[in-house]
Amino acid sequence: MTVIAFLSILIAIMIFLKNRILNKRTQELNAINKLLTIENENHMRTVQKLQEEMNKLTQLKTVSEIAASISHEVRNPLTVTRGFTQLLRDGSLSDEQRNQYIRLSLEELDRAERIIGDYLSFAKPSIENEEVLHLNEEIEYIVQVINPYATMNNITVEVDMEDCQYAILGEKQKLHQSLLNIIKNGIEAMDNKGKISIQLKKFNELAQLIIKDNGQGMSEEQINNIGTAYFSTKEKGTGLGTMVAFNIIKAMHGDYTIESKIGKGTCFCITFPLVDSYSRMKE
Ligand SMILES: Nc1ncnc2c1ncn2[C@@H]1O[C@H](COP(=O)(O)OP(=O)(O)OP(=O)(O)O)[C@@H](O)[C@H]1O
Ligand SMILES: [Mg+2]
Repeated sequence: MTVIAFLSILIAIMIFLKNRILNKRTQELNAINKLLTIENENHMRTVQKLQEEMNKLTQLKTVSEIAASISHEVRNPLTVTRGFTQLLRDGSLSDEQRNQYIRLSLEELDRAERIIGDYLSFAKPSIENEEVLHLNEEIEYIVQVINPYATMNNITVEVDMEDCQYAILGEKQKLHQSLLNIIKNGIEAMDNKGKISIQLKKFNELAQLIIKDNGQGMSEEQINNIGTAYFSTKEKGTGLGTMVAFNIIKAMHGDYTIESKIGKGTCFCITFPLVDSYSRMKE
């Protein structure tokens, strides 16, 4: 055999052996790949399961938040109704006063019912039945509703409104809900004596509503936190009142600023765009 033939056979054997090794490696790699695929599938299943659990937890959180909001919002009309019911005990009430208290109590109970309905349909801060509201009339109503609660706490409510109609767009019940929450906070910030002043005027084509109290006021940190869910400095507070109130103002295309000084009091300045044609017609 020549040297060349011998080398050729040697090379052929080496190629054969290399191919066998390569085949074996490929088989091993395929096996590893299969294992990795299975591992990966398991991993994906775990991730999916975790994701599902996370979704469930988020849903639960939403449900408990909604439950907390319902109990918070329903408490206001119930407190007001309780106040009127107590007043009805007074034997010296005129028929007119008695009827007025009964009417307001029924209206507030209806409000509680509507609030539950609202929240059950997922507490949308959006305004669904937008209509033209006359801010003056709505404030008069709100003051009527809050007056017994204020009187019970030795607080006087002072109203100063210009004698023209302020027409804005929004939803009556939600506007009441929002402003009552803010005024109620003002009453609670005063230690059983004080004054809430409510002023309505026109400012740069906007209806400007100023709600001022001379209560305990807020620190810088409190001002930054107000309106965030569950922020409360009260023993029994839910810390949802202002969050709901501010969401409603925003949903009604309004805006607000807060000024407050510890020991001096707090001032909420709320603005709503005026519905021009309406306000001009009445001016
Ligand atoms: N007019 C105010 N004067 C001083 N502090 C206020 C005033 N309004 C709100 N705050 C502060 O903001 C916090 C949050 O108010 P929010 O209405 O959201 O909840 P809350 O009043 O504590 O609870 P709830 O509304 O359930 O009674 C209050 O606890 C209080 O510390
Ligand atoms: Mg409150």
